[in-house]
Amino acid sequence: MNVADPASASLPITVPSLRKMKADGKQIVAATAYDASFGSLLDRCGVDLVLVGDSLGMVVQGHATTLSVDIEQMIYHSAATARSVARALLVADMPFASYPEPAVAFRNAARLLAEGHASMVKLEGDGPVLDCLRYLSDREIPVCAHIGMTPQSVLRFGGFRVQGRNDAAAMRIRDAAVAVEQAGAEILVLECVPSTLAAEIRALVSIPVIGIGAGPDCDGQILVSYDLLGLSAGKRPRFVKNFLQGRGSVDEAVLAYAADVRSGAFPAAEHSY
Ligand code: KIV
Repeated sequence: MNVADPASASLPITVPSLRKMKADGKQIVAATAYDASFGSLLDRCGVDLVLVGDSLGMVVQGHATTLSVDIEQMIYHSAATARSVARALLVADMPFASYPEPAVAFRNAARLLAEGHASMVKLEGDGPVLDCLRYLSDREIPVCAHIGMTPQSVLRFGGFRVQGRNDAAAMRIRDAAVAVEQAGAEILVLECVPSTLAAEIRALVSIPVIGIGAGPDCDGQILVSYDLLGLSAGKRPRFVKNFLQGRGSVDEAVLAYAADVRSGAFPAAEHSY
């Protein structure tokens, strides 16, 4: 296996291994994939967690938001990705409107595991979503929570904007982090918040915190794979780095991303808020 860190070329990553990585102070390297080729690329380069994100609505389908993605599409892309991922933990997004209440969330999450071959599902938000997190977790479905800038809330936020910039908003996000852990989330994705807030949240919860646009003081980092390869159209957000620039292959780019996350070189201050 062609991985940056030989120590990571071992057994498949599981939920307990992510917890151990946090305890051992090892950064978790994560990225998105939507098909077998990208799944294989990330897996052979030693990425620890592959997310089949509903960002596929934007980078694959060309929509302006993630809101049109449905559960059938998520299952299709998760199953395709799963065929090529042997080592990384495969997480699949619960798309918009697929978790309005716990029983519906359970049916959809179970399909992502059984038909999409994911090992964990990710849900955005807190508040009413806490009941879904708890219901799934109590029924042996590993869950990842996603708070901060949650793309499924884009209409309410009025755009993809950094969250938690003032004291009241920061307090809401801190409270949400504690609440999702108490509801049974195994890991937490924290998107587009000030670095100082991410550092506080990382100290506050015991589950691994994986940041995207949340600065360096997290337990790992995730990027959309199309972003880290410079493939995405439009204005590049501050937290994105094109790792293909100056490198000769996509493997070299993903290996550089993994190495920079593990060493702490990425994200730098210029990628943080
Ligand atoms: O859908 C997605 O790709 C995500 C990441 C941005 C974390 O949720």
